[in-house]
Amino acid sequence: MSGKGIYDIHCHIVPGVDDGATDIEETGKLLRMEYEQGVRTIIATPHFRFRMFETSAEKVKEQFKLVEKAAAEVASDLHVYLGCEFHTNMEMISMLRENKVMTMAGSRYVLTEFSHNSEENYIRERLSTLLSGGYKPIVAHIERYEATRTSMDFVEELVDMGVCMQINADSITGKDGFFTKRYCNRVMKQDLLHFVGSDCHNSTKRISRIGEAYRVVTAKFGQDYADELFIRNPERILEKKK
Ligand SMILES: [Fe+2]
Repeated sequence: MSGKGIYDIHCHIVPGVDDGATDIEETGKLLRMEYEQGVRTIIATPHFRFRMFETSAEKVKEQFKLVEKAAAEVASDLHVYLGCEFHTNMEMISMLRENKVMTMAGSRYVLTEFSHNSEENYIRERLSTLLSGGYKPIVAHIERYEATRTSMDFVEELVDMGVCMQINADSITGKDGFFTKRYCNRVMKQDLLHFVGSDCHNSTKRISRIGEAYRVVTAKFGQDYADELFIRNPERILEKKK
């Protein structure tokens, strides 16, 4: 690992805006947990999903100020940025343009979530729309959707279109079961993965084990590949490069 540590680009540490951290004490615990895992840069990604998580961007930004303060108290070399895990809908582009929903740290990258049973055609169409709107979609936890889970050809097609793929740390380490782990290994073997996120929500059940995932990827695929997923690709988001 480089001196700069690893990145976590998917987590729910902003207090009181989604089903992640309930209050600032929990945020503090999660930030310390991330730091202990070797994370030095975080993009916080609260959910936005119609009829479920509709916290306004103003409120999210206000709550995020508390996260910045808490991070500074954990360590001076822990950096936090704001993003969003955006559950797809038909108004995505206008919502992004009107800043109703955040991109990743002000870049063109958008962490994009689908439903478990979203169909290929819908996924393809929504991602194409984001791409043609000038955005760079990152599909959140691809190991969860039927469409990406059952067809590596479909994953490859999306990557060829210019879409990035993200997998959760616990899926890589085997915490989410053998078959999920095997799927993740296949995705990595075929070089179809760009990012790993902890997707941590709280300090008890949905915790951050991203450092563990970094070590698993290093042991199986080598440090250069692990650094690409956990350091270099995330750096590109902050450099606002595509
Ligand atoms: Fe998430």
